[in-house]
Amino acid sequence: MNPLEGRSVALGVSGSIACYKAVDLASKLVQLGARVDVMMTEAAMEFVAPLTFAAVTHRPVVESLFDPKSEISIDHVAIAERADAVVIAPATAQTIAKLALGLADDPIGATVLATAAPVIVCPAMDAHMYDNPATQMNVETLASRGFVIAGPAEGRLASGLMGKGRLIETAEMVGHLRLALGRRGSLAGRKVVVSAGGTKEDIDPVRFIGNRSTGKMGYAVAEAAIDLGAETVIVAAPNALQPPVGARVEAVRSALEMRDAVLAESSDADAVVMAAAVADWRPRERSASKLKKGGRSSFSLDLERTPDIIAEVERRGLVKVGFAAESDDVLANARKKIAPKGLDLIAANDVTAPGSGFGSDTNRVTLIDRGGNVEELGVMTKYEVGRRILDRVASLLGCPAARRDAQPPAR
Ligand code: CTP
Repeated sequence: MNPLEGRSVALGVSGSIACYKAVDLASKLVQLGARVDVMMTEAAMEFVAPLTFAAVTHRPVVESLFDPKSEISIDHVAIAERADAVVIAPATAQTIAKLALGLADDPIGATVLATAAPVIVCPAMDAHMYDNPATQMNVETLASRGFVIAGPAEGRLASGLMGKGRLIETAEMVGHLRLALGRRGSLAGRKVVVSAGGTKEDIDPVRFIGNRSTGKMGYAVAEAAIDLGAETVIVAAPNALQPPVGARVEAVRSALEMRDAVLAESSDADAVVMAAAVADWRPRERSASKLKKGGRSSFSLDLERTPDIIAEVERRGLVKVGFAAESDDVLANARKKIAPKGLDLIAANDVTAPGSGFGSDTNRVTLIDRGGNVEELGVMTKYEVGRRILDRVASLLGCPAARRDAQPPAR
């Protein structure tokens, strides 16, 4: 399951030293399943040969409005009509100015004027050029027309200057594209709260009780939620992951903090997916200063139960999904959790099985609903597991199927 499978992306490349990064973007989009039509300005072709893009996209590159080899010379709006999204990366000051004026003297300008698809502009230029009031005004004009302005990032520029003007990283450009494409997904207009990572229960300022969760499963569910168009909130216990573009992250540490955040966020949510590994016990007291050994040969911690978060979340119509990470009697143990926690669906997995469990990019999950129906998913990526779970959530919510083939939305 590729997130961009069957989607058509028009990629406009204008002339900046960052053109080489657009090659990486084109390649990544193709790997994610997209059909990519690259359009280059003359200046862009000074930096990178069209052949490079043709090789990674397996498609002809549009080099001019009058290029007899390209379909744009026969039908100058063909790409505009086919595109599910248009990405301009890198977008130079010149190209941004032309787009703001609505000029159509090159394939990028003509396509942007003719498309009804979302347009994502990723600026890249010298910091002074970006800061110039002329460029700033043009950027604002595009933003006010509904274009997504993604970047630029701050950092070292080709000129050696430090400043704002770097093309954002490929992963971020892909993230903006997925966010834009997801808007018509089956969960459009719905809010999904996902908890992720393992909570940490502090013993003293140095030590804590934690677990082996990395947050990958929860973040994969969040990515899938964005692709399906949901407003997505991640209640995140400490982890090292980059959240998907468009997700709001509520950072928490302990089970109690996670409870407060999940309860607050789910008050207006349509679904809660509890992928976090929540500590069941926490120290009854947290020492304000570092505990010393003090000559003792043993040491006991007095622990108390943490609240069962998902059991506490209650609202009519809210779909609740839990996970059961088990090492023995997986299905029987998972089933026992459905009623007391009030779950609509539980995703059970054997954390000791190959291709499953903590830190892995794949998982082998069995879904059990409150009626006891069992759906065994084979080993698949955590992203795919997330999609399968959210497809079930969408159907529980009575959401219509994705509207990606319906009328394109106005930007
Ligand atoms: N969960 C929760 N609050 C807790 C503990 C767990 O919301 N204090 C959620 C988890 O996020 C998961 C589900 O409940 O979605 C099941 O978690 P799990 O750790 O498997 O079960 P426990 O309820 O902790 O039961 P046990 O430890 O006895 O297996």
